[in-house]
Amino acid sequence: MRTTVGIIGAGPAGLLLARLLHLRGVDSVVLEARDRAYCEQRQRAGILEQGTADVLRAAGAGARMDREGLPHNGIELRFDGRRHRIDFPSLTGGRAVTVYPQTEVVKDLIALRLAEGGPLFFEAEALAVEDAESPSPRVRYRHEGGERQLECDYVVACDGSWGVGRSAFPAGTARVFERGYPYAWLGVLAETPPSSAELVYARHERGFALLSMRSLELSRLYLQVPAGTDAARWSDEAVWDELDHRTGTPGAGRLERGPITSRSVTAMRSLVHEPMRYGNLFLAGDAAHIVPPTGAKGLNLAVGDVVAFARGLAHERRTGSSRHLDAYSELCLRRVWQAERFSYSLTTVLHRDPEGTEFDDRLQLARLDRIATARSAATHLAENYTGLPFPLD
Ligand code: FAD
Ligand code: DHB
Repeated sequence: MRTTVGIIGAGPAGLLLARLLHLRGVDSVVLEARDRAYCEQRQRAGILEQGTADVLRAAGAGARMDREGLPHNGIELRFDGRRHRIDFPSLTGGRAVTVYPQTEVVKDLIALRLAEGGPLFFEAEALAVEDAESPSPRVRYRHEGGERQLECDYVVACDGSWGVGRSAFPAGTARVFERGYPYAWLGVLAETPPSSAELVYARHERGFALLSMRSLELSRLYLQVPAGTDAARWSDEAVWDELDHRTGTPGAGRLERGPITSRSVTAMRSLVHEPMRYGNLFLAGDAAHIVPPTGAKGLNLAVGDVVAFARGLAHERRTGSSRHLDAYSELCLRRVWQAERFSYSLTTVLHRDPEGTEFDDRLQLARLDRIATARSAATHLAENYTGLPFPLD
């Protein structure tokens, strides 16, 4: 099989890229290792930056998001018995975010791709990218019991943090910058309406807690737990008690409890693979970078990367100049490092470091107090949370 752009992975990055290329008249083939139901049900992100929502709309993938998504104009910080609201529009010149689950973004993009005639192959696992440095790189993959080849002009590996794209960079052509954290997130989905209209980020002596949502009927809740925690060891009651404890402020009622329908523990790390391109192989999304979840940047970064690739390729087709495509890695990495910085900073100001000292505690409170009292500090948070401009914007 032959195509212009071979895309590995049908997560948000791969699916959106296929759509953006289709709209620009560029053919592509998407190879996805898992089945459709798995891709559509994997519980992950929930917050779309303003720019991400705009891109989905412009790609014709925003109709259900606009009907069912929840526009959010702010978040609340809770610390030291205090509550402080950050108002996005007034701090950013009118920007906001949308609560719309990644599961739904993926469903919408899969439906569009299939309606436009694909090709999108599920249970097609890429095994290797070959001849990446040549004008005709290939993806070797397994599908329907046999091994096959996809010949391409470009390969974009959108295959997440454990994919094969990264391993096609020959030794010595890339560097990985990485950092771990001594804690993880226990995330639960609960059949109960969110207890507050906006997301609540709580810093507490016993650790961070986040009250989020997937809809007006479904709450998504997170607790900081030690790295390596077994989710099964937390009873439903213990989860609710701990959420109440960490998010409670004087005068605030208890959370509305409901059945917990799923639970999982997510490890936290920061990682950047530089560069994001080798020859005609490009990395996009989690394949190239990971952020800790605090601040909800992962999906939004993936969108920025594929927008940059699609714009770069379209520019080349239109003008004959590969200028933008050549700058892909550099353009993406500038935005990636800003998101790394923001996610790191929000993570470390809100989580309790098990090795931290009382000095560190005081410093955290001083940083939060600054956000609560200085407009410049709140503006910085709001600008980063609602999203920095995409490459080539
Ligand atoms: P993925 O979604 O990982 O997709 C990669 C795809 O490639 C998968 O479908 C995989 O099956 C497939 N694949 C892998 N290997 C192969 C192979 N060899 N061959 C073929 N296919 C392959 N981000 C936000 O922006 N906002 C949030 O609120 C947020 N919350 C999060 C909460 C949690 C608990 C977690 C875990 C993550 C969260 N994120 C959030 C991060 C976000 O989910 C990811 O950044 C996003 O999924 C990245 O998209 P992607 O398409 O790059 O990768
Ligand atoms: C969610 C995840 C985040 O990392 C975050 O900062 C906000 C919300 C979520 O999954 O709902």
